[in-house]
Amino acid sequence: MKPHVLDVSHATMQFGGLIAVNDLCMVIDDEEIVSLIGPNGAGKTTAFNMITGMYKPTSGIVSLNNHDITGQRPDRIAAQGIARTFQNIRLFKALTVEENVSIAQHLRLKSGWPAATLRTPRYRREVTLMKRHTEELLEYMGLSEQRNEVAGSLPYGMQRKLEIARALATGPSMLLLDEPAAGMNPSEAEELKSLILGVRDGFHIAVLLIEHHMDVVMGLSDRIYVLNYGNLIASGTPKEIQKNEDVIAAYLGVDEDDA
Ligand SMILES: Nc1ncnc2c1ncn2[C@@H]1O[C@H](COP(=O)(O)OP(=O)(O)OP(=O)(O)O)[C@@H](O)[C@H]1O
Ligand SMILES: [Mg+2]
Repeated sequence: MKPHVLDVSHATMQFGGLIAVNDLCMVIDDEEIVSLIGPNGAGKTTAFNMITGMYKPTSGIVSLNNHDITGQRPDRIAAQGIARTFQNIRLFKALTVEENVSIAQHLRLKSGWPAATLRTPRYRREVTLMKRHTEELLEYMGLSEQRNEVAGSLPYGMQRKLEIARALATGPSMLLLDEPAAGMNPSEAEELKSLILGVRDGFHIAVLLIEHHMDVVMGLSDRIYVLNYGNLIASGTPKEIQKNEDVIAAYLGVDEDDA
């Protein structure tokens, strides 16, 4: 049987007296779109941070394609195929759109600095290919026209798309998106939905999504995990989650109660 792309097994993250994520078990398979939802402070971003090596889990195991990556450095985990975007956008704000993507691609360059200094044919071939790939990614994300603009000057929605382009530039097997629709208007969020589907189908990668926009979550996800106060309270298809009473009480019901 094919191993899961990602297998989070009994992962716990404790900060002093606070258990931010408690005994989380979660798997993601090839080309699946899976969402991790839950109220503010439920532990969603902490789960991402354990998966990507920003936090070392207090206990538990994170495996990527059957390899234990628990507690490895973020750059090593990224090199093994996990790319992410951040809840608070992290771009090189003073660099152009194109530079942001090409820097991410440099992580994949096979030629070392001697080849770069000597500008060997192999190095130049690699750079040409990278430039083409950058162009393709910008085109794909609808950012070609902005290629020479400074990233920090872009509207919020475009910065979020640029973060996705930059994550894809590292050639991942799995993409983690932390609230990609945050700050987007409904039509941008709708466009993002088809972009994420396109990314899954076009790049053949698994996507793990944290999102508060329920129409995005329900419209995109093959499966959903629900966290509440660090505990997994439900998992299932969008249909199953929508009618799960624990979820309605903890989360989906909040809006209706407030209304
Ligand atoms: N480095 C840290 N040190 C101490 N506590 C932390 C740390 N990181 C997160 N927490 C706490 O862990 C809990 C979960 O936070 P987390 O950011 O994972 O929530 P979240 O589900 O992503 O929420 P949101 O939807 O608001 O982004 C919160 O109580 C938070 O304050
Ligand atoms: Mg968060």
